[in-house]
Amino acid sequence: MATRTALVTGVTGQDGSYLAEYLLKKGYHVAAVVRRLSTPALGHIAHIVDQLTLFDGDLTDQSSLDHAVRKAAPDEVYNLGAQSFVQTSFAQPALTGEVTALGALRLIQAVRTHAPGARVYQASSSEMFGKVEKEPQDETTPFHPRSPYGVAKVYAFWACVNYREAYSMFIANGILFNHESPRRGIEFVTRKISDGVARIATRKARTLTLGNLDATRDWGYAPDYVDLMWRTLQTKTPGDYVGATGESHSVREFVEAAFQEAGIESWEKYVRTDERYNRPAEVFNLRGDAAKARRDLGWQATTRFRELVRIMVLADLERHRARKS
Ligand code: NAP
Ligand code: GDD
Repeated sequence: MATRTALVTGVTGQDGSYLAEYLLKKGYHVAAVVRRLSTPALGHIAHIVDQLTLFDGDLTDQSSLDHAVRKAAPDEVYNLGAQSFVQTSFAQPALTGEVTALGALRLIQAVRTHAPGARVYQASSSEMFGKVEKEPQDETTPFHPRSPYGVAKVYAFWACVNYREAYSMFIANGILFNHESPRRGIEFVTRKISDGVARIATRKARTLTLGNLDATRDWGYAPDYVDLMWRTLQTKTPGDYVGATGESHSVREFVEAAFQEAGIESWEKYVRTDERYNRPAEVFNLRGDAAKARRDLGWQATTRFRELVRIMVLADLERHRARKS
């Protein structure tokens, strides 16, 4: 079979880096859109950068997306690029809309113009369910976003559905619940906890300050979810799929498990809360039902909560033990 080409946005992020590794292993030619930074930072792709074709580009710039799509001539396009941090979306709502909502529109427009036969994956989010109207959430659950980020993802979701219906393009949404790993950005709660616990265990910090400990999330392991992304584009007809573990745990439970993994029993001694980490509107509880992905794509999450906590804490412990500060 001829080598297939995938074009990935967001390749320097958590999911993009795992997806690029996954696609290279499958024999894809992987092209990626990377934004120019004053201090170049290849994030999590430094070890594979020689195997990728990189295009300078930005989701806020139509011509750079047109150029990348035209040159790469992809069979599959994965739109993982986004301003993805919910808290920041309250402080920078217009930027979040530009990148996360209109960026997706620009990309599918570029695909429509330059590679109309390509299959497109849009990284949609359980954050779209927001103030949840059903428990657990699946593909039929109405959206009620609670942040500018969630609102932007709803826009992108419907833009994709619209292009699918209007122009018969193969565009699929993965409605993914939270997924984490040692590559998770340091400000997201799971990584903030695993890093904070490792700092305390290695005596680099005395306390860990968090926001709402009662929020619950359906946390899975990121490498499982890039497999789902690929499967979503291998179907006969495009569809939208929830990706989730089906289990939900509170931030407090994550904290308790993380301290235990580091061999520290009384976590309450070390954890403080501060309202500055609370959000103007919170998504209190999320739990997904991925039955459709199991049925149609043969996908299911393999890594459960406790194993995920262990992977993240051990990685941060190792990192902090190897570094002096
Ligand atoms: P992430 O680690 O925050 O990565 C975001 C990526 O987007 C980075 O590569 C970033 O590049 C890139 N990016 C940001 N602004 C851009 C712009 N203006 N133009 C081009 N690229 C830009 O996110 P992630 O956790 O891997 O998530 C991947 C995608 O899935 C995101 O769309 C996210 O919203 C969505 N999602 C994630 C989860 C989750 O739990 N992880 C769940 C549901 C949906 P730089 O390195 O240059 O900043
Ligand atoms: N970040 C952070 N920092 N969150 C905290 C803290 C803290 O100190 N303390 C409590 N939390 C709570 C937040 O209020 C939220 O309810 C929960 O922990 C998870 O927050 P994040 O880890 O920042 O993730 P998120 O759920 O808001 O968003 C992530 O998942 C979405 C999928 O549902 C991101 O990856 C989004 O891009 C993704 O779409």
